[in-house]
Amino acid sequence: MDPVKPRPQPRLVEVGPRDGLQNEKNPVPLEAKVAFIDALSETGLKEIEAGAFVNPKSVPQMANSEQVFARIKRKPGVLYSALVPNEIGLDLALAVKADKISVFTAASETFNAKNIKATISQSIERFRPVVARSRAARLPVRGYVSTAFWCPYEGKVAPEKVVEVVKRLSGLGVSEFSIGDTIGKASPDEVRRLLFLLLKAVPKDSVFLHFHNTFGRAVANAIVAWKTFGITGFDASTGGVGGCPYAPGASGNVATEALVSAFKAAGSDPGVDEAKLKAAAAGLFKHLGRPVGARPAK
Ligand code: HMG
Ligand code: MG
Repeated sequence: MDPVKPRPQPRLVEVGPRDGLQNEKNPVPLEAKVAFIDALSETGLKEIEAGAFVNPKSVPQMANSEQVFARIKRKPGVLYSALVPNEIGLDLALAVKADKISVFTAASETFNAKNIKATISQSIERFRPVVARSRAARLPVRGYVSTAFWCPYEGKVAPEKVVEVVKRLSGLGVSEFSIGDTIGKASPDEVRRLLFLLLKAVPKDSVFLHFHNTFGRAVANAIVAWKTFGITGFDASTGGVGGCPYAPGASGNVATEALVSAFKAAGSDPGVDEAKLKAAAAGLFKHLGRPVGARPAK
């Protein structure tokens, strides 16, 4: 086997403006969010999750997502997606002309109950009209499955459970799945085990991996998934900002610039400009008042 044969080009989804900023303790000014997204739009990224239409009492940082969508400069060829938990969120996302809708559930009941106040089954029922209406509006729908490896409350999660949730989402018409290592604890072997099962159920191009980087394994996990299974979809957050307010102790997503650098070193260029990513991160962290990559003080 040729050890350096060309490998498929990774497709990166930037989730920093949503997953990254949702966990900030202090309000992030609207201008800072808009400037961050506008800077990301110039990096070569093809998809940016620009905000969330969730209960503002649950996640106050996302409360101004409407204004964010209204003010960003949309670059042709870039998709600006929105996270929505229900039809109220969908109405808001449609009103601001989001290009793509992301629904979100989990593979563990306790996390799901804390995050969206529903059982997994209830959340999937809630998504039924959301997915149908999104598809009627010709918008692609992504389905997140959180706690796909570990749950902060229940511990290890069985891969079979993840596959079951993905199949149920697929049955609703969800066409893309983002598999979340919500607390950043997965190991490369756990990633292999899950993908081995999951790829029997859905096509590999429909799978995105969403690694948080609490234990520093996210880049290794991504490279393993890419090299072993040919997975090309990865979520990341510029500057490594972020975390989930309902996953205590979890750190941000893998940094977009770290993934770009690792993929380039491994022989495939995701087509995203590292210097521009670093500049976008520097601009954002200036507003956050801490060095790039640093976590908020607790
Ligand atoms: P609930 O309290 O059951 O909702 O929350 P409800 O339907 O009873 O409504 C309560 C209030 O919320 C009402 O307002 C609704 O109008 C309002 P009130 O009458 O009290 O004034 N409301 C909304 N407002 C704006 N937009 C909406 C909306 N829905 C209801 N869409 C709900 C259920 C799901 C809404 C709530 O729990 C929620 O919003 N949760 C969001 C939690 C969240 O955003 N978590 C972080 C994102 S997930 C994540 O980070 C993981 C991920 O990155 C992957 C990974 O890492 O694993 C995706
Ligand atoms: Mg996340």
